[in-house]
Parts: sequence; C-alpha cells; structure tokens
Amino acid sequence: MKKPKVVVLTGAGISAESGLKTFRDNDGLWEDHRVEEVATPEAFAQNPALVYRFYNLRREGLLDAAPNAAHLALKDLEHSLGQDFLLITQNVDNLHEKAGSRQLHHMHGELTKARCARCHQIFKWLQNLDETDRCPNCNCQASLRPHIVWFGEMPLFMDEIYQALSQCDLFIAIGTSGNVYPAAGFFDIAQQNGATTVELNLEPSLNASAFHEGFYGPATQVVPDYVQSLINKLNPS
Ligand code: APR
Repeated sequence: MKKPKVVVLTGAGISAESGLKTFRDNDGLWEDHRVEEVATPEAFAQNPALVYRFYNLRREGLLDAAPNAAHLALKDLEHSLGQDFLLITQNVDNLHEKAGSRQLHHMHGELTKARCARCHQIFKWLQNLDETDRCPNCNCQASLRPHIVWFGEMPLFMDEIYQALSQCDLFIAIGTSGNVYPAAGFFDIAQQNGATTVELNLEPSLNASAFHEGFYGPATQVVPDYVQSLINKLNPS
C-alpha cells in the first residue's frame, strides 16, 4: 500500500483517560466557572487574577498526568509514516509530547507556555503565573498571559493546517465533540479534497454521520486497535 498522507485531529477526549477533564462531558463547568467565562480576552482584562488562577490550577493538574495508550499509538503512527503524518491537537496539555509525538501543532496553544501581550514572545512556563511576573524578554510587568487561544481569538498554525488538509488521503478525528470551529470543519475540508475521514470517539460526535467511518469506545482501546490495523496495512508481513 502506498504511504497515505495522514492528518489526525485530537480533542479533550484523548486525554480523558489520563485524568484530564474534557470540556463538555462535565457540561463545560470547571472549578464552578463556564470555560467560556474564563477563556476570553475580556475575562482576562476584567479579572486577570481569576484567569491566572484558572490556568494555574489546570497547569498543576497537568504536570503529573501521563500519556495513555491512545497518545502512544499516535506516536507509533508518526514513526511509521514519517513526513506523511501531521498531528493537530485542540488540547493545551503536553501529553502528546510526553508520548513522543513531534510532528504536532497545538492550534489552541499550550498550558506549559506563557506569552507576553506586549512583545509577543512565547516562553516555556511550568510554574504559577500572575501579574507580578515580568516578561523575560522585555521586562514588562503584568503583560504575561497563558499561551492559550481564547474564545474570539484566531487559532494557531492555520496556514499549515489548511495546507495539510488539502493534501491528505486520510483524516482521523479523535476525542472531539465537533462543537468548536474551525476544528469541527476540518473533516469536511479533507473530505472535499478526496480524503477518507474516520472518527474515533467514545460516542458519535455532532458530525458523526458525515464521516466515512466511525469506531466508538474509550480512546485507549479504539485508537491503538485502529492504528495497528493501519500500520499492518502499510507493512503487510
Ligand atoms: N475516549 C474517547 N473519547 C472520549 C472519551 C474517551 N475516554 N471521553 C470523552 N470523549 C469524547 C466525548 O464523547 C466528546 O465527544 O471526547 C469529546 C470531548 O468533547 P469536548 O469536551 O467538547 O472537547 P473538545 O471537542 O476537545 O472541545 C473543543 O472547545 O472548549 C473548547 O478550546 C476548547 O479545545 C476545546 C474545544
């Protein structure tokens, strides 16, 4: 079988079995706040202390989280496909990196990084963040924010993502509800460019009926099984 160009999109569901909460399975509440209430530029302007606290708590919860069998399966798929593989994640956790994935774009940013609102430099940031911190580059105080794409802001790496979607043969969506655009529309772009589209999820997402194929169950079971079947097709013994 010729090596297909594969694009994978992951959402919060792939990290659920690593102990990280999804957004809508627990009706989107987190620490008694609607995610949308603390994940907007307006919330940060009005109440930076609340937003800093919200992300500091999420970052702390992330540091001990371990990648699960689904993350590891995607690392194996990347090793099998080389440059013909791209992983796009909506997640801001670093479990794909911990699993060994490298060809990866975080379209909604990363909890393990901070960004200066003044000089726009991005820094690895694992400790708590607050308005007393100074930007390591421009030394400005109270200008550092979580490197997270908030509601109403443009997702990252969109040029690279649209290029990959226009060239891929296989698009796989994993652990995402299909609620938030533009990610929820990626399958349709790939499909219009001739790709086969597959959904791997705990249960059918909003767009399930539009995918060519769907396999349902916990990601730690469904993803390794699907990836192994794909690798077996690529390398028939
Ligand atoms: N295995 C596989 N899928 C799972 C599992 C699991 N163990 N647990 C939950 N899921 C599925 C749910 O069925 C749901 O379809 O994961 C999906 C999680 O959906 P959301 O909570 O909406 O998360 P996501 O799709 O990543 O949200 C997209 O919305 O709030 C914004 O920026 C945030 O990136 C996020 C975006």
